[in-house]
Amino acid sequence: MNIVVSNVKGGVGKTTTSVYLAAAGVESGWDPVALVDADRQASSAEWLEESPVSGVELVEAPSERTVARAMVNFEGLVVVDTPPGDERIVRAALERADAVVIPTRAGGVEFTRVVATLAMIPRNTPHGVVVCAARMGTNDLAETIEWWTNEKVPVWGVIPERVGIASGPDARLYREGLEEYTKVLKKALRKRS
Ligand SMILES: Nc1ncnc2c1ncn2[C@@H]1O[C@H](COP(=O)(O)OP(=O)(O)O)[C@@H](O)[C@H]1O
Ligand SMILES: [Mg+2]
Repeated sequence: MNIVVSNVKGGVGKTTTSVYLAAAGVESGWDPVALVDADRQASSAEWLEESPVSGVELVEAPSERTVARAMVNFEGLVVVDTPPGDERIVRAALERADAVVIPTRAGGVEFTRVVATLAMIPRNTPHGVVVCAARMGTNDLAETIEWWTNEKVPVWGVIPERVGIASGPDARLYREGLEEYTKVLKKALRKRS
């Protein structure tokens, strides 16, 4: 089962989402679970090196060939953290995805980036957006959810902005974050056709 976390834009929450989804997979009983880091910036690899997550195996795969191999050969749950820019690596991952999670932020300027990401996802591959670092109760958030609903792109999750999540590898995984990402994982798995 390959879940690819992708958005052509950087700084939206891909790495955070990838680490939390992998940890949510372990909590949901998946064994083994791999976190494949396809980003040359190696951010999820750095996270796990600094703060290992029990049950999550790190696979560094910063090339088309290595990411393809990691996704084809691994039995269990695979979560792939992708780079913002390197289109060939992103495509190699998206081609082999069973589901695609697209982290985004609230706010109109974010839409075009997601549209660019959507254009790269193979037809019939289930996908949904996750609004990261969301400010609950704001008009921006409500408009963002309405926008994606109208576009027929499901919103698989809304992750509130929390200091405990922003701490990344400097703190333990934040309980509320794990709970929200567990729901995202369930939706991604349910949509698998
Ligand atoms: N739910 C959240 N609450 C607070 N900060 C968040 C949340 N999700 C992500 N962030 C922060 O947003 C920034 C970008 O996230 P990151 O996962 O590194 O994005 P990307 O991998 O897309 O570049 C980081 O500083 C991260 O801590
Ligand atoms: Mg990243």
